[in-house]
Amino acid sequence: MCGIVAYIGRRQASPILLEGLKRLEYRGYDSAGVAVMEKGKLKIAKAVGRVRNVEDLIEKKGDFDGTIGIAHTRWATHGGVTDKNAHPHRDDTKLGHGIAVIHNGIIENYASLKTYLTEKGHTFTSETDTEVLAHLIGELYRGDLEKAVQAALREVTGAYAIGVICEKEPDVLVVARKGSPLMVGVGKDEYVVASDSSAIVAHTTQAFTLADYTVAKLTRDSFRTSTVDDVPVDAQVKELEFDLAEIELGNFEHYMLKEIHEQPRALRMTLQGRVDTRAGQIVLGGVSQMARQLATARRLVFVGQGTALHACMIGTYLMEELGKIPSDWDYASEFRYRNPIVEEGTVVVAVSQSGETADTLAALQEAKSRGALALGIVNVVGSSISRETDAGVYLRVGPEIGVASTKAFVGQVMVASMLALFVGRRRYLSADYVSNFLQNLERIPAAIERTLQLSDHIKKAAAKHIERENWLFLGRGLNWPVALEGALKLKEISYIHAEGMPAAEMKHGPIALIDKGMPVVFVATRNSQYEKVLSNIEEVRSRGGAVIAVATEGDEHIKTLAEDVFYVPDVSEMLQPLVTVVPLQLLAYHAAVMRGKDVDKPRNLAKSVTVE
Ligand code: M6R
Repeated sequence: MCGIVAYIGRRQASPILLEGLKRLEYRGYDSAGVAVMEKGKLKIAKAVGRVRNVEDLIEKKGDFDGTIGIAHTRWATHGGVTDKNAHPHRDDTKLGHGIAVIHNGIIENYASLKTYLTEKGHTFTSETDTEVLAHLIGELYRGDLEKAVQAALREVTGAYAIGVICEKEPDVLVVARKGSPLMVGVGKDEYVVASDSSAIVAHTTQAFTLADYTVAKLTRDSFRTSTVDDVPVDAQVKELEFDLAEIELGNFEHYMLKEIHEQPRALRMTLQGRVDTRAGQIVLGGVSQMARQLATARRLVFVGQGTALHACMIGTYLMEELGKIPSDWDYASEFRYRNPIVEEGTVVVAVSQSGETADTLAALQEAKSRGALALGIVNVVGSSISRETDAGVYLRVGPEIGVASTKAFVGQVMVASMLALFVGRRRYLSADYVSNFLQNLERIPAAIERTLQLSDHIKKAAAKHIERENWLFLGRGLNWPVALEGALKLKEISYIHAEGMPAAEMKHGPIALIDKGMPVVFVATRNSQYEKVLSNIEEVRSRGGAVIAVATEGDEHIKTLAEDVFYVPDVSEMLQPLVTVVPLQLLAYHAAVMRGKDVDKPRNLAKSVTVE
């Protein structure tokens, strides 16, 4: 959601900024803009639509030189998608100082600040909260940009990551953050600032993350970090663990397809060094200090949103079955506002790929403030959620660029299963049981590899139903969250309406929807509820629905009931979601491509949802 890139150094800024914006396109956006400065003069280009449009504008303008600049991709919150609302924004043209600002997040008190500034004679050209912040910085400017930014941020409530330049200080870039991610890449005589490392790694692998309420003043050869109250703080420059190849498309047409295919390798990384199959031991460094508290916990609550929520649902099954601790799941957005009961011994587990989802972060903070132990299952190292937790386990699946979450989901489920085993081993599970379970876990990457070979078959099946606008996805037990995930994948990238639900729930209303040829996808692997699912399949067939089934290899019977069957290898029941989800990811992918949709950048969506 919104992306920031800023540069100060000795090279031309605009190519670096544009390339950085392209790296951040996956975050989701609707307009973009760049500002550079040369000899104390700002030049700004911004446009609705793709970064390419801004690039075209710059080419047309011709003169866009400058070795300091800021750039932004906007995902509209305040004000429509227009050129005027795109960032960068300037301070007041008459009263101001030639200040330009880019901003991620939301300034919650922008309306009262706008009234105050209007009374002081400011006039605004956009509907955005960011322009208000730019004017406020201008209003407070007394010849020192860093101080003006600090002063303005002391007046602001809400979330922000900002980049600011000023014509009166042409060799200074000021950046700051609270609640929205921001990283500073440290090169030789240059700094590249961005919302995430994917826009930095091409230039340097040395970087530091700004902490909340921190401001960094960057010149070409030095930097200073301080709080908004001007108390100096240390910044720890670290090596980025990031391989550029991980964010390149390679031979794949889309990031989503690449990431679907990366799942076996990603899960091997998730497992690496953490399981001792022979000894029946799990080593989770991130939670080892908390082992006792976890083993004696009275209740676990998994919170997340979207795909991560589906992993949370599976997490509760796993924790109850293996850890034998009562467990619930909840939408983070609901949990945070419903006065949740957090009794002694409650552990809240926040599940998130990005580690920046605003609702999940807030739910975690709410739970902590009520005395819960806060755990994280997160992919992005050093993200806000990972820093807010008491302990946690990283997914290690590598950067996920496609907006549709795929490899992060299987990583989340894999980590949830390891966490459940970690707890279970300290409660009731024998070393033999764990050892056996781990052997099954280690077979999963190969099982996914086999499932990926279904791609062409799935594509043909998708083609048969591609004109249908309404689909159902049904499953029971652990296959219910997988059905939800299948429906979410299909709707978010192909814009086909799809609903997922427990198979038994269908009879309580949704069955009225089923007419001739309506595609109904059953996750119907052999497990404890298999026979029940078969009955639900019959119910759909007798109303003319077109049954598509994800089933266990060797199940000949299901062929007689379904128009298409996607066979997955037989894996133990608790681990089935790790393979059954794969055909559904491919189904959504092929359907979206066939419908000509932008798979990696679906309309209206952002990769990480940093507003509530
Ligand atoms: O970064 P997070 O895992 O916290 O994101 C949560 C959801 O926004 C995310 O899973 C979303 O539902 C995906 N786009 C689904 O593919």
